[in-house]
Amino acid sequence: MAKAKLAYVCSQCGGEHSKWQGQCAECGAWNTLTEFVVEQASRAGGAASAGRAGYAGSGDAAQVTRLSSIGMECGSRIATGIGELDRVLGGGLMTGSVVLIGGDPGIGKSTLLLQMLGAIAGRTPSLYVTGEESLAQVAERAHRLGLDLDRLDALADTSVERILAQAATSKPEVLIIDSIQTIWTETLGAAPGSVSQVRESAARLVRFAKERGTSVFLVGHVTKEGGIAGPRVLEHMVDAVLYFEGESGSRFRILRAFKNRFGAVNELGVFAMSERGLKEVPNPSAIFLSSHATPTPGSAVMVTREGTRPLLVEVQALVDDSPLSNPRRVALGLEQNRLAMLLAVLHRHGGTAIHDQDVFVNVVGGIRIQETAADLPVLLAVLSSFRDRALPEKLLAFGEIGLSGEIRPVPNGEERLREAASHGFRHAIVPKANAPRQGRIGELNIIGVHRLADALSAWAEL
Ligand code: TYD
Ligand code: MG
Repeated sequence: MAKAKLAYVCSQCGGEHSKWQGQCAECGAWNTLTEFVVEQASRAGGAASAGRAGYAGSGDAAQVTRLSSIGMECGSRIATGIGELDRVLGGGLMTGSVVLIGGDPGIGKSTLLLQMLGAIAGRTPSLYVTGEESLAQVAERAHRLGLDLDRLDALADTSVERILAQAATSKPEVLIIDSIQTIWTETLGAAPGSVSQVRESAARLVRFAKERGTSVFLVGHVTKEGGIAGPRVLEHMVDAVLYFEGESGSRFRILRAFKNRFGAVNELGVFAMSERGLKEVPNPSAIFLSSHATPTPGSAVMVTREGTRPLLVEVQALVDDSPLSNPRRVALGLEQNRLAMLLAVLHRHGGTAIHDQDVFVNVVGGIRIQETAADLPVLLAVLSSFRDRALPEKLLAFGEIGLSGEIRPVPNGEERLREAASHGFRHAIVPKANAPRQGRIGELNIIGVHRLADALSAWAEL
């Protein structure tokens, strides 16, 4: 047998190198390269979808197929019985698709998937493979969740060969692997949990899903940095990547599509953890508001539109004299660089200098906001804390801020305003182009502004 060919794969970005080095040349991370046996894997027929190794071998020409001759029946969807999960998946679970679910330990990944199996039991055959917990623990949890244990099949194993042999016989339509980090293949010598094992096992499972039309869920652990542990390359192999997020201490959980070949990304599903498992929150628009009895300095409310639903969210800021020569700028739930930029705009175009102040900004409820509509509420919260003056009651704001101090419109302005109106808000400061001509929706008085200075004088006049 030929000497095994080695590659070194970065566990952060999946980049491949021919020799070991301390720093990944592609993403710059330190000490992330791990050995990966290329040759052996291709001999065993592995890694076909994962890397170059799969191209070795047979000289026969590959077959070309006219797309019109392909039946579309492979594209059917299964309703998972959990509406919020269906929403994030893009309208149900695609048959033959592979979905990776990441999230911190204890956030509820196993609970959600077990509840899903309980919901589809009886109409869709399924198999729950546990590599982390014993069958007794799984049964105990299913019992606590009030599921019918007579209809659930589980398997405690970690060998991908044995799991796939079992799945080929029992033919489940939905297969859950909890978690992918515990699965290993006999064809590689590396330890279970190593990058090469995770990558190769996932490649086998993906191939199985595509050949048999089985829908596969892979549970993945999350690293300190928030990515899915093991090679980032897992994210490229699968059809959808979902993240389960939430603040420790809060019972709300957010399921977010980070990648989805069959639906919109950044769609949110909202759940609440209870004693009897995860409960859906189909109408989450106001759960991220903290309830102040009186208006508080440093707090601004915005309407964000993540996915296809508007959500009311509170942005909080704390601005205080800094003892440091280099004051701190900390953004939780928002992008750090964006905050630095906004503070510069505030100085240049809002006439307020806070270069000697520490600035902390936080989005209530552990939610992350990725859209620029948060710009205006962030600056209003910062100014409100700096001046120690609360924003008027029942005020909300949204809008992107440009480097020259202009306020740019954001998508779906009217929908956001309607949501705010339906929750009893009275004043809105929004981009001019997002404001309806009549200037109000119901009780909501809408002020359209062109520039940051206009927004600040609108606040002063309220
Ligand atoms: P789990 O699904 O085991 O998390 P993960 O698989 O992501 O690691 O979630 C376990 C947590 O959820 C644990 O802290 C207990 C809590 N929980 C409830 O509050 N109620 C329940 O009914 C269940 C099953 C779990
Ligand atoms: Mg678990």
